[in-house]
Amino acid sequence: MSATAIAHTNIALIKYWGKADPDLRLPLMNSLSMTLDKFYTETTLSWQTSDQFFLNGKLQAAADSQRVFSYLHLLERRLNLPNRHYLVRSVNHVPTSAGLASSSSAFAALAAAFDQLQQLHLSRQDLSRLARLGSGSATRSIFGGFAEWQAGDDANSYAVPIDERPKLDLHLLVVELDQQPKKISSTIGMQRAQTSPFYQTWLERNPDEIAQMKLAIQQADFDKIGQLAELNANEMHALNLTAQPPFTYFEPATMQIIKWVQAWRAAGIPCYYTIDAGPNVKILTSLKNCKVLSSRLAQLMPSAKIVVTNFGPGVKSWSNSDME
Ligand code: PMV
Repeated sequence: MSATAIAHTNIALIKYWGKADPDLRLPLMNSLSMTLDKFYTETTLSWQTSDQFFLNGKLQAAADSQRVFSYLHLLERRLNLPNRHYLVRSVNHVPTSAGLASSSSAFAALAAAFDQLQQLHLSRQDLSRLARLGSGSATRSIFGGFAEWQAGDDANSYAVPIDERPKLDLHLLVVELDQQPKKISSTIGMQRAQTSPFYQTWLERNPDEIAQMKLAIQQADFDKIGQLAELNANEMHALNLTAQPPFTYFEPATMQIIKWVQAWRAAGIPCYYTIDAGPNVKILTSLKNCKVLSSRLAQLMPSAKIVVTNFGPGVKSWSNSDME
């Protein structure tokens, strides 16, 4: 008997950047994201006599598997299930070799595969709460389209769908940069950001930013969505630059793309950027302009890998018992 789940990566337009409780992965603010169609993780889970984790077909060393197995054993304890060993086979489906490997799709797929293997039939709300324990952003990958993750306590911090099938022509141009410098993990980044003198303002602004984004989504107002997303990303990265010690995820190429986006916009092409805990830039624009901007970027920065994505679906899982 084995169970498989597919979960898609999401990109936050209003970001989660600060934990109220690091163990329970409770956020200090609400966040709102877009689930992507092109980037997803497919995970198959079964029981066996020892824990083994294969990623993209390769057996992972114990140190690289630890987060996966600590998570599965945490789920067992929370759900009062017996302690077992697991074979985990995950494949990150990304349209280019560099990839946009994401913990959001990874832990959402793992939570859903666990639910399916154990035949728990949990609601999507409960799945979202469980996904949260693996990675905060994974709460939102349970749902397709736009989803909001609510701050709260252990019982009520989960994601809710905002619009799972948006009609809007909003596409995301993912620009993966060549250099992947040493990363500051999101956990460390969030901790440090809280030392910024602007952190309190970041928290105070959150309810209004979320409300405005929801209204813009409801009104299918592309420019408003883009403006709010770009401002929120800039605010998050300003926290990092003003932290003690200061840091940034930006690389020179990140800044270069920001400047091009600003220039294209000034020249009349509606496009906005957002950036997460790494140097890659994601550009929000229409499908038609994705094509225009992709070809410009390919000329200006040939080393960058460009992927055009749209809204993706929520998590799916199934049991393979019939086929074995
Ligand atoms: O949940 P994590 O550890 O993947 O942190 C996500 C942090 C950001 O991607 C920068 C923001 C977000 O809300 O996804």
